[in-house]
Amino acid sequence: MLASSSAKKLVAEHAASLIENGMIVGLGTGSTANYFIEALAERQKQGLKCSTVASSIVSTMKAKSLGLPQLGMDNLNQIDVYVDGADEVTVDNILLKGRGSDLVREKLLARACDEFYVLIDQSKVVDHIGQNYPVPIEVMPFAWQMVLASLKALGGQGELRPNAAGDGLAVSSYGSLVVDMTFGDIEVLVLDKMLNDVPGVVEHGIFTGLATAVFIADETVGVIEQRR
Ligand code: 5RP
Repeated sequence: MLASSSAKKLVAEHAASLIENGMIVGLGTGSTANYFIEALAERQKQGLKCSTVASSIVSTMKAKSLGLPQLGMDNLNQIDVYVDGADEVTVDNILLKGRGSDLVREKLLARACDEFYVLIDQSKVVDHIGQNYPVPIEVMPFAWQMVLASLKALGGQGELRPNAAGDGLAVSSYGSLVVDMTFGDIEVLVLDKMLNDVPGVVEHGIFTGLATAVFIADETVGVIEQRR
């Protein structure tokens, strides 16, 4: 098995090699997305000309520190390509995302792009969504108790996500709180729709029908492209 950092770098460099001059590139959030931002900055040094739009404050800062030109999401209605990691991916390219909390910005970019490339290693390929992680759900801060009650009424179990230091709550770049919920044995498309219908939910981590290609780092063959 490739070391996690080598696997992330491998798929990040593969995705960066597909970016063309003039493209508007959406930047994901997380450690794999960071490798992609670095690989894109490297390509820029070699002459690539592209613009970027970030899915989070942290990715905005990373891209800025490497000199990548940035656009505000509020000025865009469509982008060429969005590149991000994921926590779980099924064989039909359904994703679970959101350990980095920025779900609504990530899903907006995933929906607005012509191509959505997802970067993972083999450990993230799952039989079903929810196999290894709870479902992250971004909620309006003033409504979190009502949302949590609604989610529990739907059979969910979970709590507000603490921040990384453990001395407060995780807050998304949009200003939402996040609850991490498990739902037992519910079919993922049913769960997706159920969560879309809960008032006070800003966004959640199940991404269906959005990924164009999943790039899986593999020790033997390098990068496997799982396209739908
Ligand atoms: C952030 C995400 C990340 O892409 C996902 O959590 C994977 O993170 P990493 O690349 O650090 O393993 O969805 O909200």
